[in-house]
Amino acid sequence: MNPASKHVDVVCRVTGPEIERRMKEAREQGDSWNRPQDILQVMIDQLPSDAPAPLVTEAIANNMMTLIFASIHTTTMHSALVLYALADYEEYVQELLDEQVAVLAEEEAEEPGVEFGFSSNAVKKMVKLDSFLRESLMLDEELQGPDPENFNPWRFVNKNKQATKVGVDFLRFGMGKHACPGRFFAIQEIKTIVSIIMRKSRIVRPTPSASRSIKEHPEGPLMFIKRE
Ligand code: HEM
Repeated sequence: MNPASKHVDVVCRVTGPEIERRMKEAREQGDSWNRPQDILQVMIDQLPSDAPAPLVTEAIANNMMTLIFASIHTTTMHSALVLYALADYEEYVQELLDEQVAVLAEEEAEEPGVEFGFSSNAVKKMVKLDSFLRESLMLDEELQGPDPENFNPWRFVNKNKQATKVGVDFLRFGMGKHACPGRFFAIQEIKTIVSIIMRKSRIVRPTPSASRSIKEHPEGPLMFIKRE
């Protein structure tokens, strides 16, 4: 049995009534129907309009599984890249932790009883972390700007080059019309994940890598040593 099938069932249960409602309204109201501008509607429109709603729902739920898998895989993989960079450049971690303390004090974002409850505004204000992320996720030395050989974690601070900002100098999320629409969410997730981990633990490589290059993906074990 496909292990994803129980998740497909959940998606069907949640989206089914909405899909059915939309298909009915579209049929009844024709051109005057106020078509929702969202991804669910794009998915509905790709399927034959006379298909039975349960089949449409199942096809969409399967599509969503693929999307969810892709978005989780990319986000975890890129979080891992940042964790390697935090291990390889541990000398910058204290400055990142200081930034968290300052931002959280300003934002009062930590909810009582919720460990590391970062608000999205707090995460946005972590500009050094954002720059660290972008530097860790660079793909191409030639496009990186001055001094590409050296890891410069604060390269993008106050440069209007957030980690979500795509362009020829930053192609992680593609660019143009089809640039990743999930990147704002993904960067927010990655910033939150790595913030929590670095606050809890020192991240070190048991066998330090001799050199680090943008061209090679880092590999090998990482150790998480609980902070006192
Ligand atoms: C670090 C995490 C992620 C990376 C590196 C990434 C990267 C990409 C890339 C390179 C593309 C192709 C862009 C192009 O064709 O030019 C893309 C497309 C897309 N991504 Fe992401 N992605 C990430 C996370 C996510 C998340 C979390 C979601 C959804 C919540 C998402 C949804 C999509 C969708 C729907 C497309 C297709 C856009 C289109 O074709 O118009 N991605 N992504």
